[in-house]
Amino acid sequence: MTTREDCAALDARDPLANFRARFALPEGVIYLDGNSLGALPLAAAERARDVIGEEWGDGLIRSWNEAGWMDLPFKVGARIAVLIGAEAGEVVACDSTSVNLFKLLAAALALRPKRHVVVTDSDNFPTDNYIAEGIGEFLGPRVERRLASADEIIDAIDGDTAVVSLTHVDYRTGRIHDMAAISAAAAARGALSLWDLSHSAGALALDLNGSGADLAVGCGYKYLNGGPGAPAYLFVAERHHAAIRQPLSGWMGHAAPFDFSPRFRPAPGIQRMLSGTPPVIALALLECGLDILSEAGMAALRAKSVALGELFMARIEARCAGHGLELLSPRDSAQRGSQVSYAYENGYGAVQALIARGVIGDFRQPDVMRFGLAPLYLRHVDVWDAAEALGEVLDGEEWRRHAYGEKGAVT
Ligand SMILES: Cc1ncc(COP(=O)(O)O)c(C=O)c1O
Repeated sequence: MTTREDCAALDARDPLANFRARFALPEGVIYLDGNSLGALPLAAAERARDVIGEEWGDGLIRSWNEAGWMDLPFKVGARIAVLIGAEAGEVVACDSTSVNLFKLLAAALALRPKRHVVVTDSDNFPTDNYIAEGIGEFLGPRVERRLASADEIIDAIDGDTAVVSLTHVDYRTGRIHDMAAISAAAAARGALSLWDLSHSAGALALDLNGSGADLAVGCGYKYLNGGPGAPAYLFVAERHHAAIRQPLSGWMGHAAPFDFSPRFRPAPGIQRMLSGTPPVIALALLECGLDILSEAGMAALRAKSVALGELFMARIEARCAGHGLELLSPRDSAQRGSQVSYAYENGYGAVQALIARGVIGDFRQPDVMRFGLAPLYLRHVDVWDAAEALGEVLDGEEWRRHAYGEKGAVT
């Protein structure tokens, strides 16, 4: 039987313990929402002062060259590449995940012109499905979005499939799709694979190239700790660089943007995936989050994330039994990302009651309580205390005080 003292002892021995001090975490808050918006790295606040005050304020337009602003999408992309098992020249940081999905889905359909099907998970994150749906509507009957359940993806891939587009770690349940098996099945049938890594990168070790993935996108603001609305990124396997084209052919993707030529000529390599001017300030802040992750190392982060997940589930089983919580996440850590989710009929109110106690998780329709376990800044004692707090919320029926109709715009 683990006790809170055991948890404190684990924290004292934790090789990642010192990373917590690199984040601005409010006193009295247990933050279980790093899978939605990562915490603020202290270095980012300092970097913001420099990039705004010195580089923008003093350097003005000279900073595009002198402060390396033009290289930021590639520099930040190279930092992300290390985390996701890609080469430096295969990743670029730009735009939002939704926009990058649009670019890559359109590019994949163009790379497979005789095929018209986009296979995706019916439980995929809404933006992934909406973008696939939107492309279908935009290009007309040429494109069909085929929804399949998580277990039926491989069977849904056929000779008409241009691309299989999946979120690697399910945003609701935390379930991991088998990237290598699905990418291989897609390749065997002549299709491409496109992975959304929003809930994976920075939380578990990834090997895009080792898994045979063709394309990928992901968020900068979750486990990468890049800040609200941080730039996203995209990956294109090097073997596709010569042939790939994308529809948002803006000047930053041109081979020579400052030639101001009237005709578009795609840049070689990953640069052709860019569209407009890079968001310099946001990229500079994202780099601070990446610095910390690369120092910590993905193997150590994953090991701690698994341990926190196991502890959380064990404590919920012990402390919240009899309240009707249903574990939605895989019990087997090999199948689970860095979150634990429960279905609970009073889930919305329970999450609000927890937030009122300083334990911040989130709620997803229809009844899902989601708890993200960011190993960089969460301690074992936090996980213990969070489970204890949930037990108290349920015992005291505190969820009754939070009416469903009063939901905020962001849950
Ligand atoms: C799997 C997944 N993809 C994409 C997004 C969001 O994309 P965007 O940054 O374009 O809003 C999220 C946001 O939570 C997500 O969970």
